[in-house]
Amino acid sequence: MDKLIDKLTIALPDDWHLHVRTGSILKTVIRHSARQFGRAIIMPNLKPPITSVEQALLYRNEILAALPADSAFQPLMTLYLTGNTSSEEIQKVAESEHVHAFKLYPAGATTNSDAGVGNIEAVYPLFAAMEKHGVPLLIHGEVTNAEYDIFDREKIFIDSQLSQITQQFPALRIVAEHLTTLEAVQFVEAANDNVGATITPQHLLYNRNAILAGGIRPHFYCLPILKREHHRQALLKAATSGNPKFFLGTDSAPHPTSLKENACGCAGCYSAHAALELYAEAFEQAGALDKLEGFASFHGADFYRLPRNTGTITLEKNSWSVPAQYEDTDNRITPLKAGEQLHWQLTAACNG
Ligand code: DOR
Ligand code: ZN
Repeated sequence: MDKLIDKLTIALPDDWHLHVRTGSILKTVIRHSARQFGRAIIMPNLKPPITSVEQALLYRNEILAALPADSAFQPLMTLYLTGNTSSEEIQKVAESEHVHAFKLYPAGATTNSDAGVGNIEAVYPLFAAMEKHGVPLLIHGEVTNAEYDIFDREKIFIDSQLSQITQQFPALRIVAEHLTTLEAVQFVEAANDNVGATITPQHLLYNRNAILAGGIRPHFYCLPILKREHHRQALLKAATSGNPKFFLGTDSAPHPTSLKENACGCAGCYSAHAALELYAEAFEQAGALDKLEGFASFHGADFYRLPRNTGTITLEKNSWSVPAQYEDTDNRITPLKAGEQLHWQLTAACNG
């Protein structure tokens, strides 16, 4: 049936996991998200990280100032959880109109995570405060010890940490970010309704061969790293299942091309330039374009207890070439599918 669909209008979507950085990179990338999303959860892993409501509000102003003049895009801010986060700050988040969650990075797990949490059990009192105040906790779910194989780090985190957190704090709303494995999908499905999860376009479209087969391709290197094909199939099935626990979060993570194409390349795929088009390709592949709207536009808003958007976007079946680079005077960023064809194109967006 999907073969006949060549135009799709859905409610305006949101991106529930986005990195926009700061300064000149922010100016280069923000328009890509603003053209297709109503809102986005903004990750706090700047250098230094955003750890207070006050800093988050300044960062929010910087993002608003970088938007195109006519944009109604809303950045939804988050704070970076550290061992020094206070329960007062959690209360401030609960009372803030603009700050929506805390992000837990296990120390050393990924880009700018050095200030993250070393001993997770030591911050259980903070989880208790979040649970009490109804503040969501967003989790980068990977163990960090060097002895763990990089392909096993998500599963080990679930078994050794996440299952315990969900047992001890059943009323804490948790988003397991950027799922990459069958085991993670099964964990989220079996957990109570306070546990949701985001899934990125790269984890729906690619398996680990994309990074390593026929040459090392650094633009597919992100964390958690791409996994085997059966994991990709499990993610595709979850995203297209209609289960409201699963929702869109691109984890679009811009890095300068020179730092990706490097002897020690940075982790992160840039996907904001074509986020909806990339998801549409994945959903079409699964014969489930009819499930895209729930995943992209409803499930995340419902989980965060925010109103659904009233606008719409339209995607049409047109082929177009993704630029090799997004380039301006300050930055060069290589996007996902650089120089390749995409078969869906965003042709209209209206913010309600
Ligand atoms: O690949 C990634 N890049 N994973 C993350 O968790 C962080 C992100 C970044 O900030 O570049
Ligand atoms: Zn991220």
